[in-house]
Parts: sequence; structure tokens; C-alpha cells
Amino acid sequence: MDPDLYAYPDTDRPWLRTNFVSTVDGAAHDDSGVTASLGGDADHEVFQLLRRLADVVMVGAGTARIEKYRTSSTPLALVSRRLDIPDELVGPDLIVITMTDAPADRIASLRAAGVDVMAHGEIEIDWTAVLAELDARGWRHVLCEGGPTLHGDLVTLDLVDEVCLTIAPTMTSGDAPRIAHSRHPVTRGMTLAHAVPVGDVLLTRWVRDRS
Ligand SMILES: NC(=O)c1ccc[n+]([C@@H]2O[C@H](COP(=O)([O-])OP(=O)(O)OC[C@H]3O[C@@H](n4cnc5c(N)ncnc54)[C@H](OP(=O)(O)O)[C@@H]3O)[C@@H](O)[C@H]2O)c1
Repeated sequence: MDPDLYAYPDTDRPWLRTNFVSTVDGAAHDDSGVTASLGGDADHEVFQLLRRLADVVMVGAGTARIEKYRTSSTPLALVSRRLDIPDELVGPDLIVITMTDAPADRIASLRAAGVDVMAHGEIEIDWTAVLAELDARGWRHVLCEGGPTLHGDLVTLDLVDEVCLTIAPTMTSGDAPRIAHSRHPVTRGMTLAHAVPVGDVLLTRWVRDRS
């Protein structure tokens, strides 16, 4: 995999990249509810490369719980309203993005455990303020690894600058979500930056068309 294919553009603001894998029929997880069986080695390689290129990895609490996330060398920012954070993640290596109306006792106990809680907005997260804080920390290469609920919110707000999408050579029936869903559907134009087949897996990168 050529890392240059995934170089972040030089911008004067945070660039929000998302990374997903989906089946041919558009499912965001397999029939057991996780993504591990999709994409194979090629997707895994891109997943790791994108983490290395990122200043911060952002993920919804649902994905963190289901996919059993752990902190790593790239800062991990978990997005949550209820603040039901897996014990294994709670500690000084974790950032939590939430709103000021989130349960105060949980904010306090997370902070007491050394978690870096970023609370912006009241009823909903104020993403403009979140991105401004990431920018202030020098984190312009932002990688969001989902899941579909968080992605849907970010697409609705037109904050997603690019989508890295692996199409896995799999069909799955059932009611798995697509990679973005929201109660406020929108349509956003994207341009194709690349589509690279690796065996039967297709690695694609799509950039938001803001022209
Ligand atoms: N195909 C892929 O590449 C891919 C990637 C990621 C996940 N997935 C799959 O997606 C499934 C999980 O889907 P999901 O939609 O539940 O994942 P999700 O977006 O990671 O999790 C939803 C939860 O994240 C928090 N959240 C999301 N957006 C928020 C916002 N704007 N403000 C505050 N909190 C927010 C909330 O957490 P609280 O409940 O804590 O308030 C919400 O309940 C799993 O099956 C996983 O395997 C697939």
C-alpha cells in the first residue's frame, strides 16, 4: 500500500477523515455484528496506516464497546452522551468528547480517573468547538473510525472531509446499518480520489466536493 495515497492535505484547519469497511450490499458489519471478518489483510493494512497518519482517532462509544477498543499510541477520543465508558479504557490515555449536559457525576468520576473530558455544547455536542479545540492542540489530522451513528451526525453537519471506504467481497443479508445513518438525512457530493483493487477487496478514498 502506497502511503502517499492517504496523505492528509495541507490545510489551515482540522481535516476530518473517516474510515469504514462495508460489504458489497452496503452493510457496516457482518452477521455477527462486528467488522473483523470483513476486508481482510488489505483493509487491516489501511486501518493501521490511517492510524499512523492521524493525530487523533475519534470513535463513537457504541463502536468502542462492541469492537472492544483499547488505547494505543495515537490519542483516542471517544464520543459519548451517556458516558458509559468501558472500564478498560478509563485512564489518562483517554479523551472523551461529550456535552456539558452529560451526567455530571460521570464527568466528575472520569476526570478523577485522569480522563481528559472535552465537554462542548449543551444538549448536543458543539462540533465547531470540538474541532477548534483539536486545532488548538495541533491535531489537524483527525481520523474518525465510526460508527454509523456518529458518522451520520458528522455527515449531516457537513463536517466529513473525506471517506476511506473498503468494499469487502461479501454479501450479507439482514438489517445491518450502512456506514452513516441519521434521522436528518442529507445528500453530500463526493469526488473519487482513488479506487485500488487488492485481490477481491476494493480500497477507495472519497473527498467531499465543496466546489
Ligand atoms: N463498517 C465499519 O467500518 C464500522 C466502523 C465502526 C463501527 N461499525 C459497526 O457499527 C456498529 C455500531 O454502530 P453505532 O452506530 O452504534 O456506533 P457508534 O456511532 O460508534 O456508537 C453510537 C454511540 O456513540 C455515541 N455517539 C455517537 N454520536 C454521538 C453524538 N453526536 N453525540 C454524543 N454521543 C454520540 C453515543 O454513545 P452513548 O451511548 O455512550 O451516549 C451513541 O449511543 C457495530 O456493529 C460496529 O461493529 C462498523
